[in-house]
Amino acid sequence: MKPPLDPEGPLDPEGPMDPDGLSDHARLNRESWDADSDQYQTDHGPQLAESRGLAWGVWQIPESELGVLGRVRGLDILELGCGAAQWSIALYREGARPVGLDLSEVQLAHARRLMSEAGVVFPLVHASAESVPLPGESFDIVFCDYGATTFADPYLWVPETARLLRPGGLLAFSGATPLIQMCYPDDTDHPDDSDHPGDRLLRDYFGMRALPYEGYVDFMLPYGEWIALFHANGFEIEDLLELRPPVDAVSSYRDATDREWSRRWPAEQIWRVRRR
Ligand SMILES: C[S@@+](CC[C@H](N)C(=O)[O-])C[C@H]1O[C@@H](n2cnc3c(N)ncnc32)[C@H](O)[C@@H]1O
Repeated sequence: MKPPLDPEGPLDPEGPMDPDGLSDHARLNRESWDADSDQYQTDHGPQLAESRGLAWGVWQIPESELGVLGRVRGLDILELGCGAAQWSIALYREGARPVGLDLSEVQLAHARRLMSEAGVVFPLVHASAESVPLPGESFDIVFCDYGATTFADPYLWVPETARLLRPGGLLAFSGATPLIQMCYPDDTDHPDDSDHPGDRLLRDYFGMRALPYEGYVDFMLPYGEWIALFHANGFEIEDLLELRPPVDAVSSYRDATDREWSRRWPAEQIWRVRRR
């Protein structure tokens, strides 16, 4: 499939919308996640279940080690791109009041299945993180683990999270690093499938924003742009965690070659920023 976006061209935040009010890349990503969801849950559901929902990134580093969200009891929490809601189910069990949001109806069907199995009930919202149909200042925490923040345009979703958070609220999200994005072979294959990052920079750093792959679009910004975007939307930066897997880590998402790369260079990061 031809990439829908020119990776080097500017994106128009008001730009092409389908009848559902979705941007072109959100519509493409929704189709892709609806098509891939069942296989994704078959492939990765067991690892996510083993981590009991409270672990970060492809190497599932426990929240108890990283302490990204901290104490959640009694807090209103929005998960952006919740998938099958493994995180939100775990947070509900910790005493939080989660809301799971996802663009994919099939992913949300898996969330309903896991919630029913767990015997828990909380709201699920079918929408894009780029335009969230919820009132402002409703949440203490907005977060995700490789969720919508990987697939949505930061120039749309960062202002949305600033609107949704109460003053003093926390935004935390994990995803790939600019470094690993620059080291993947420069083709249109999904980097999760069989490609491995190399030890050379193959893409430009400046100008990085939409990364069109076969059938879907990822987003990534240079560090200076992330920082400027957070500041412009009233966030103070608390932390940038660069994740390093243990020597013997195993993952349903990655193989030993990826693990060795990730032991040498940061492949994943977690931003932790707070609304002033
Ligand atoms: C890799 S999954 C992450 C979910 C969960 N943390 C996990 O590890 O399975 C990414 C999720 O983001 C959702 N997503 C992609 N683009 C989105 C958008 N614009 N708004 C909301 N959700 C989106 C996808 O449908 C998918 O469920």
